Amino acid sequence: MKIGVYSGSFDPITKGHTEIIVRAAKLVEKLIVVVLNNVNKKYLFNLEEREEMVKETFKNIVNIEVKSFQGLLVNFMHENNSTLIIRGLRAVSDYEYELTMAFANKEISEEEIETIFIPSSKKYMYLSSTVVREVALNGGKLNLYLDEVVEKKIREKIALEKK
Ligand code: COA
Repeated sequence: MKIGVYSGSFDPITKGHTEIIVRAAKLVEKLIVVVLNNVNKKYLFNLEEREEMVKETFKNIVNIEVKSFQGLLVNFMHENNSTLIIRGLRAVSDYEYELTMAFANKEISEEEIETIFIPSSKKYMYLSSTVVREVALNGGKLNLYLDEVVEKKIREKIALEKK
């Protein structure tokens, strides 16, 4: 079975991620969406909360499985019998970062792992979780960027943080 992996922080998951993931799931028999930590980031939602939101988002798509993992992506892939990473590419600014990760993952997996990229649609080209957090913190509208359930979670989280 061809298993692909889409990795990310998802702090929180946005419609930009969802768009790419739904397209990625059509390319493989099973797509595992794995929620990971980037050691350089400070997160609004913890790993379990991020995983929960991603699970909720894809609960009706049968060939998408959602997991979280602490550690190297290549180790997760080995444990889950996959050698294919699928990532989205937005504007040119993503390119260098994505290439760095793709090369590193290939090297540390002893050339086993390949990364392929799906171009983001124009609509979500400049969307990021930082933009979403910024809009949310300032009480702006989020329906263009987030599914209803995720919007509810971020509003609750921010209300808690402000207490
Ligand atoms: N639509 C909207 N936003 C998107 C997007 C899309 N299609 N694709 C990426 N983004 C945004 C994210 O929202 C995020 O925004 P933010 O930085 O403003 O919060 C940003 O692009 C990058 O997100 P992501 O793709 O999740 O990368 P990341 O740097 O947060 O994390 C990991 C990347 C977690 C996959 C990576 O660090 C990892 O694999 N960690 C495990 C350890 C490891 O194996 N490291 C690799 C060795 S080099």
